[in-house]
Amino acid sequence: MSDLVVKPSCGLKGSLVLPGDKSISHRAVLFAAIADGNTVVTGFLNGEDTLNTARAVQMLGVPIEGLGTGTDRLVVHGKGLDGLSEPAGVLDLGNSGTGMRLLAGLLAGQDFFSVLTGDQYLKKRPMARIVEPLRQMGALIDGRSSGKLAPLAIRGGGRGIRAINYASPVASAQVKSAILLAGLYADGVTSVSEPSKSRDHTERMLRFFGVEVSEEGGRVSLRGRQKLTAKGLLEIPSDVSSAAFFMVAASIVPGSDLTIRNVGVNPTRTGIVDILTAMGADITLLNRREQAGEPVADIRVRHRKLRAVQISGDMIPRAIDEIPVISVAASYAQGRTIIRDAAELRVKESDRIAAMASELRKMGADVTELSDGMDITGRDSLSGALCESHGDHRVAMSVAVAGLAAKGDTIVRDTGWIDTSFPGFERLLNQTAYS
Ligand code: S3P
Repeated sequence: MSDLVVKPSCGLKGSLVLPGDKSISHRAVLFAAIADGNTVVTGFLNGEDTLNTARAVQMLGVPIEGLGTGTDRLVVHGKGLDGLSEPAGVLDLGNSGTGMRLLAGLLAGQDFFSVLTGDQYLKKRPMARIVEPLRQMGALIDGRSSGKLAPLAIRGGGRGIRAINYASPVASAQVKSAILLAGLYADGVTSVSEPSKSRDHTERMLRFFGVEVSEEGGRVSLRGRQKLTAKGLLEIPSDVSSAAFFMVAASIVPGSDLTIRNVGVNPTRTGIVDILTAMGADITLLNRREQAGEPVADIRVRHRKLRAVQISGDMIPRAIDEIPVISVAASYAQGRTIIRDAAELRVKESDRIAAMASELRKMGADVTELSDGMDITGRDSLSGALCESHGDHRVAMSVAVAGLAAKGDTIVRDTGWIDTSFPGFERLLNQTAYS
């Protein structure tokens, strides 16, 4: 078990490039696998989560050059829509909800049997949200607790898979993507609606591969049996969810002036920019451009005293993975921040509401748990403490960021989890926070 010792910083400075976007990396290997032709993927995230998805894709008979060598450049030899083959073993997605749920959708459309499993945390996360619609589409799926929990055993519907018109009770890109992936194998039009718009990387990447995807009145639809065509190069930008840790750190540590280059700024993901800006942060997006259908920019952040903000409703899916580090920003902001409508945080890699409230309180923050959020009154300073990661990469990194602006040292225990999404976090923190 590795620990991270965080000393107070006198300001984060310079310019840095972060690892590739996790959501886009999962999709890049999955979609390139069922495309006709080869795809060169650059900026692939070499995190445990996305490596597990790529290994699973290999077990489905798709050669991937470069995988496991540490390079962020992979060559995926696409097998076409009907080219996957039955895996000889169990597909282990480790800690990754995205890997498991998106693969379940893809496998629901196959003509073979497969089993998906994961680590102790993933095996506790809700799977009924994808199992129910995929069963309605004709896939035979079983799992622990009648299919509510992994491991999941999937006998794909093959040519018998049926299109569906599904109203998802949760705003979840994983649910939406699983259904659209299965829908690719059905005759007819599959559509999904959700209570508020979740990240749209699946829609954008399917279009990049030449699939027609329509959106009307909050409903995303596609006609099945459309072929994906490889486009040669697929460039993945850096992950805005990883940038979020540095954006908050630079906002709360006096003396900071930091530029994060080549970050994905898809509007369904940039709640963090909008929330910090509403809190008074000094953030500028520079050099805006587009890569593989995704908006990209450089982000400059300078320290400025933050003020409290109210966060709820449609903003939540746009910032869902950033709420832990936003709770850190709120702990240093002037006034009372209330976060609501975020009950989904309780079923992430850990219960992120309970985890952040408990760790921030150890540092002297004034945080009250709400059933669906947090009530936080900011303080001028927090104190370093001995904190836990709760087996959750984003909790570990959020607590480390809180430590940068605290008085005294903070020790975050069991930080190996950070590698699921952000290998090199500690090195980049040391490079920018103490120079
Ligand atoms: C993701 C969707 C979100 C997010 C997760 C990645 C994705 O989960 O929290 O980190 O890549 O589709 P939900 O779809 O469950 O909200």
